[in-house]
Amino acid sequence: MKLWATIAALGLLAIGAWAQGVMPTISLPPCDSPEAEAAALVAQDFLNAQHTHGYKYALNQIDKIKIISKPGEADTYLLELDLLETTCHVLDPTPVGQCPVRQKQFTAVEADCDFALSNTTQGLSVVAFKCKTETESTEDLCLGCPLLIPLNDTDGIQLIEASLDGFNKNHTLNTKFALFEIGRMASQVVSGGNMYFAEYGIIGTNCTSHDDDICIPQNHTVAVHGFCLAQGSAKLNKVDCNIFKTQVVDPATNATVPVQQLLHAHTSGPHHNPTIHGLKHHKLTTLHDPAASGLLSAESAESAEIVVPKEAPVVKREVAASEGLATDVTADATVAEKTPIPLQSMPTVPICPGKKKHF
Ligand SMILES: *[C@@H]1O[C@H](CO)[C@@H](O)[C@H](O)[C@H]1NC(C)=O
Ligand SMILES: *[C@@H]1O[C@H](CO)[C@@H](O)[C@H](O)[C@H]1NC(C)=O
Ligand SMILES: *[C@@H]1O[C@H](CO)[C@@H](O)[C@H](O)[C@H]1NC(C)=O
Ligand SMILES: *[C@@H]1O[C@H](CO)[C@@H](O)[C@H](O)[C@H]1NC(C)=O
Ligand SMILES: *[C@@H]1O[C@H](CO)[C@@H](O)[C@H](O)[C@H]1NC(C)=O
Ligand SMILES: *[C@@H]1O[C@H](CO)[C@@H](O)[C@H](O)[C@H]1NC(C)=O
Repeated sequence: MKLWATIAALGLLAIGAWAQGVMPTISLPPCDSPEAEAAALVAQDFLNAQHTHGYKYALNQIDKIKIISKPGEADTYLLELDLLETTCHVLDPTPVGQCPVRQKQFTAVEADCDFALSNTTQGLSVVAFKCKTETESTEDLCLGCPLLIPLNDTDGIQLIEASLDGFNKNHTLNTKFALFEIGRMASQVVSGGNMYFAEYGIIGTNCTSHDDDICIPQNHTVAVHGFCLAQGSAKLNKVDCNIFKTQVVDPATNATVPVQQLLHAHTSGPHHNPTIHGLKHHKLTTLHDPAASGLLSAESAESAEIVVPKEAPVVKREVAASEGLATDVTADATVAEKTPIPLQSMPTVPICPGKKKHF
């Protein structure tokens, strides 16, 4: 039934398309082909460049790829990707390929994203994307592992304030840093009570290390940024900050003005929105479609499809699934008498999804 419907619909589509001379062709390269990989990496880099807060995401698996070609138009690539959060802040210049992904026991974050790319004469570029971010369920966590806590947790914030104060007193960059954003906070029960963990971004201010007054964060576009890992408590902590750019911050003046509270500096960072980030950990932009391409909305994505080439891999997957069934029913004599499915001739390597790079 379904097949007939498909064929009938195709016939109509084909006639319509021929009439207008715009018959699109669809190709479905394997998800692990160099072509798919190249497009996925462009998508990954674009996604990371979009954000000024949160962490970089690394490609984990290519779920689907479809290339739509129309005469006289740039090819459109539709990709479905799984990405994993890394431990590198988005402003960290470390290439994402060298950033470790956050392991499951530290509450990994996964993103499922759909991308539309266009292969113009300038190369591949992202036209639109949409993402869904999910935090690994706590069932997969080990007993006694640090658990995420809301980003407004009082003890966590005190750890951040105290550890940044310690860092500001101890580094040799002659700039005071202010809190830019909180990346993560977690706590763990240890013998002495609770141990806190915080990851936070910092931004250079107009104060030198010795200024003791109001310190305003530098313009975000030119400021020095860094990222700190702190653990312990407000009273006793360890902090390790990685400063991203070594460019010299120009201390505008050396006048002394009152020091601002860290949380005030925090609210001045770009994209900081306490109503959004007060409690939740970072998520990716859910929909980005500046060209209003409509390529990613469920309805239009379906209607843009010409289905024939797509059927091939679907059929292969159904056949693969029936292998399991065939072995399960051998106890039934009537079934066993039937001609066995020739397993050897079945495709064993699915074209899609591709291999998982991490987990
Ligand atoms: C983009 O199109 C050009 C030809 O216009 C082709 O040579 C190139 O391989 C395509 N890029 C990708 C990643 O498919
Ligand atoms: C954190 O935010 C939530 C929701 O906005 C609020 O209910 C809670 O009291 C806040 N906790 C602290 C410690 O400020
Ligand atoms: C400053 O750094 C030294 C070693 O580099 C360390 O022993 C000391 O605890 C640090 N002080 C603060 C306040 O972080
Ligand atoms: C930093 O900038 C603020 C606002 O312009 C100003 O009030 C303050 O004096 C400056 N601080 C220093 C140390 O120059
Ligand atoms: C920050 O600097 C950029 C480039 O120099 C400028 O376009 C922007 O207006 C500045 N923003 C603020 C808030 O001063
Ligand atoms: C900053 O202090 C230095 C030395 O105290 C002085 O030479 C310089 O003129 C001061 N700069 C400003 C902008 O006040």
